[in-house]
Amino acid sequence: MCGIVGYIGKEQAAPIVLDGLAKLEYRGYDSAGMAVFDGSEIRTRKAIGRLKILENLTRGGETMPGVSGIGHTRWASHGAPSDRNAHPHTNGTGTIAVVHNGIIENYILLKKKLQNRGYEFVSETDTEVLAHMLDYYYKGNPLEAITKVLHRVEGAYALGILFADHPEVIYAARKDSPLIVGRNESGSFIASDVPAVLKYTRTVYYMDNQEVAALRGDGICFYSLDGEMVEKESVNIDWDADAAEKAGYEHFMLKEMYEQPKTISDTLSPRLQNAGAGKVEEIVIEELNMTDEELRQVKKIHIVACGSAYHAGVTGKYVLEGLARIPVEVDLASEFRYRDPILEEGSMVIVISQSGETADTMAALRESKAKGYQVLGIVNVVGSTIAREADACLYTWAGPEIAVATTKAYSAQLVALYLLAMKFARVRGILSDEAYEALIEDLKRIPDQIEQLLAQKQTIQHFANRYLGAKDIFFIGRGIDYAISLEGSLKLKEISYIHSEAYAAGELKHGTISLIEEGTLVVALSTQPALYQKTVSNIQEVKARGAFVMAVANEGNRAIEKVSDYAVFIPETNPYFANSLAIIPLQLFAYYVAVGRGCDVDKPRNLAKSVTIE
Ligand code: AGP
Repeated sequence: MCGIVGYIGKEQAAPIVLDGLAKLEYRGYDSAGMAVFDGSEIRTRKAIGRLKILENLTRGGETMPGVSGIGHTRWASHGAPSDRNAHPHTNGTGTIAVVHNGIIENYILLKKKLQNRGYEFVSETDTEVLAHMLDYYYKGNPLEAITKVLHRVEGAYALGILFADHPEVIYAARKDSPLIVGRNESGSFIASDVPAVLKYTRTVYYMDNQEVAALRGDGICFYSLDGEMVEKESVNIDWDADAAEKAGYEHFMLKEMYEQPKTISDTLSPRLQNAGAGKVEEIVIEELNMTDEELRQVKKIHIVACGSAYHAGVTGKYVLEGLARIPVEVDLASEFRYRDPILEEGSMVIVISQSGETADTMAALRESKAKGYQVLGIVNVVGSTIAREADACLYTWAGPEIAVATTKAYSAQLVALYLLAMKFARVRGILSDEAYEALIEDLKRIPDQIEQLLAQKQTIQHFANRYLGAKDIFFIGRGIDYAISLEGSLKLKEISYIHSEAYAAGELKHGTISLIEEGTLVVALSTQPALYQKTVSNIQEVKARGAFVMAVANEGNRAIEKVSDYAVFIPETNPYFANSLAIIPLQLFAYYVAVGRGCDVDKPRNLAKSVTIE
């Protein structure tokens, strides 16, 4: 997604803006630009391609002197990547500059109105409409012009705005696209995300929807769209600076894979409360804001999410239905939001999102709330829109996840769902003390078991190197193994660009098996004892057509080695938790195939870390 950085204060703005944009490169972009007030006018430089090009063009910012500036990395939505379409965009006289993240949904109508008033456009972007609208409404008072424009705009925006005749202020505004504001003794900052400013300040404000901020070198004021002053609480960011850096790993993705044991412990431990000597911990999820009785009243759960979060939701269905016997429907958010979903009485909606800013998931949340249903968010980014708009939010304490391909946040989402399922089962009297205690012990073993699996990375890397030239790789499984297949397949294709599909193993014979050729790699998940024999039959089906089968099975199951070509084993755990372990070798496999193919593992082509547009 696009990245925004702005600074105003005592220091030169351009180097700070460039440094901040570099920390946002993980969001995915195709061009970059900057606008700085140089003491008499706004100077703008922008270029297609990597941020390095803009840095070289401006000699690290030296050619753009000034103490107030805004910058942008663009992930194209309206208008192809080009110098012209890169941000900032300005009005005709260059006295107003705007950077924008989001989509102005009514920009075509607004553009026509402006063109009818003689405005000329130089780009294909929706953002340029904002620059000319500000010009149209500006009569000397920037805040007045901004609020007039934003009352007429539909869609999502995070904005940084410079006015040449008010160089002592940078303006920012936000609706549905994240934007934070920060301060330190040298000045004030705006940014799309915390890593951009962490080097300068730990005190940030998360802007809320339809808020405007006026940043001066010595302070920040917040306003509503009606121009009323707004009081805001700051948030102290306790992430270590290196938490957003690679800490010695080659890629953020590998670093974050190795953080999974800690992520799971951090997500688990605050919710396992000691019940006294010799007693097993009770699951306490205070953020639920629901009494045990209200939990008992839940008749159905709708889980809604995108991508890997959706895959976690598919696992959630099996675990919630299996342990708590609550009917669960899982939907892709982009489908849910447009099918006028039928939510029965007593339904609860759970939206899952690492970033908390995914447009489709946010829309699904709003659709559910508009229908009067309680929405629980399972979110990783503190203070994100979904986290703040959900009725309750269960945070997955995974810390900043920089790699576009999620790993630690996904693993934390699984654990959050396990906790929920066990909590529901417990309050509904479905889980015996003995079964509950066994599950708690299995949960607590997962971090160490993941450490064991990560220690096998060389073996997986060796196997992965045999498939760098693969054209198609299939993942199959039944039940929770199918859910694991979905995530294993996505991990592989999104970072290695190898075509891959996940199939419910029983579905293969209904078409896909025709794609299996001599040597096609099929990864067969077989961690579910109750479905094991069925999965073995599916393995035999594909082997009969020439497939090479990599099985992922439970330790001790040596029989699987007789029916597959290569077996990877996971330590013993409750079948409901198998995803948390089986996904580790699949993450490693995807990672090493991508590395072997020379792909940009942390910033795969065409992808963004947070898809804040439809
Ligand atoms: C997962 O590796 C992908 N980056 C993508 O599918 C992601 O899970 C999806 O876009 C949802 O993002 P969210 O969890 O931030 O809502």
